[in-house]
Amino acid sequence: MVEPILRVHDLVKHFPGSQPGETIHAVNGVSFDLKPGETVGLVGESGSGKSTIGRCVLRLYKPTAGRIEFGGRDITTIKERQMRPLRKEIQIVFQDPYSALNPRMKVGNLIGELVKLHTDLDAAARRETVTALAARVHLNADLLTRFPNELSGGQLQRVCIARALATNPKVIVLDEPTSSLDLSVRAGILELLGELQRETGVSMLFISHDLETVELVSHRILVLYLGSVVEDGPSKAVFANPSHPYSQALLSADLPPDPDVVLDRKILEGEVPGPVNLPPGCPFAPRCPLVRPDCNAAKPGPSVIGEDHHAACVRVADGTNDIRNADANAEGDIHKKFQDQFIGRTS
Ligand SMILES: Nc1ncnc2c1ncn2[C@@H]1O[C@H](COP(=O)(O)OP(=O)(O)OP(=O)(O)O)[C@@H](O)[C@H]1O
Ligand SMILES: [Mg+2]
Repeated sequence: MVEPILRVHDLVKHFPGSQPGETIHAVNGVSFDLKPGETVGLVGESGSGKSTIGRCVLRLYKPTAGRIEFGGRDITTIKERQMRPLRKEIQIVFQDPYSALNPRMKVGNLIGELVKLHTDLDAAARRETVTALAARVHLNADLLTRFPNELSGGQLQRVCIARALATNPKVIVLDEPTSSLDLSVRAGILELLGELQRETGVSMLFISHDLETVELVSHRILVLYLGSVVEDGPSKAVFANPSHPYSQALLSADLPPDPDVVLDRKILEGEVPGPVNLPPGCPFAPRCPLVRPDCNAAKPGPSVIGEDHHAACVRVADGTNDIRNADANAEGDIHKKFQDQFIGRTS
């Protein structure tokens, strides 16, 4: 069996809240493995803890509890000095390439500074490496002498990907890498990521709230809700048979393509618990159309749905976990009702 390159076990990350004594429960016991050459997708609404997980993996945040292993080595609490040599092995690409790049540096130097930082090549060899990296991300060599403001969003994201590749990483964390881009250029970036993974065998942790994108690129996915995994499994299995009411809602809702609409923060307001006051039971219970008393008793553990496919819902045991089954609700079309509430509009 192939050993995972990254192993995240029962990861917890809390932040102090704005009021004294308040705690923000951003990540609450998340576990997953990332194998060489594999892409794991993290999907969930705004505030579900996706970026926090990514930042813990990169050790930009120190986890509150749990364990992170990279290449078999426990990196959960190692000091920055010990982490530094590992930094080139785990790279990150952010959502907004404009703000990720120094506007006063030419593109060639932006890529070159990473090569310089992590290799001892001389100037001529570095230039060659930069040209080769640009070619690998299909960036025209003419652009290397330009400044970031002369490039399009898609081209800039290619620069960021070239910078991430410059160190030959084993893992790349991609935090919403296509969310700021026009729909027309997204596909090109996703295609590039697939191509690079096939060429290099790099593993990817792909963070997105856009389900379609996640399905396209991920071998496995984790559906997150308020810092907990509510469902995980092979991408195909989760999309074919979403088994947690929250995943069903996400997948069945006629979600508009604009991620800002999908992520409308308003849907987490009101009676919905925030990560400060988490309910003791299932985090989704306060919004779940299938809620029953035992949902609030204790946080449900993962129930097996299929091979490597789990959903953390008490209703899995008796097969009543399907919100698409309108008959389950005497009040009528539960699915439509939920869909309206969920995406905050009537259809
Ligand atoms: N540095 C921080 N200090 C305090 N709270 C934080 C910090 N970073 C994140 N949080 C909180 O932790 C929770 C999870 O945030 P996170 O950014 O990980 O969510 P996300 O899933 O990446 O959301 P988005 O889709 O909006 O990027 C949120 O409630 C957020 O406000
Ligand atoms: Mg985020």
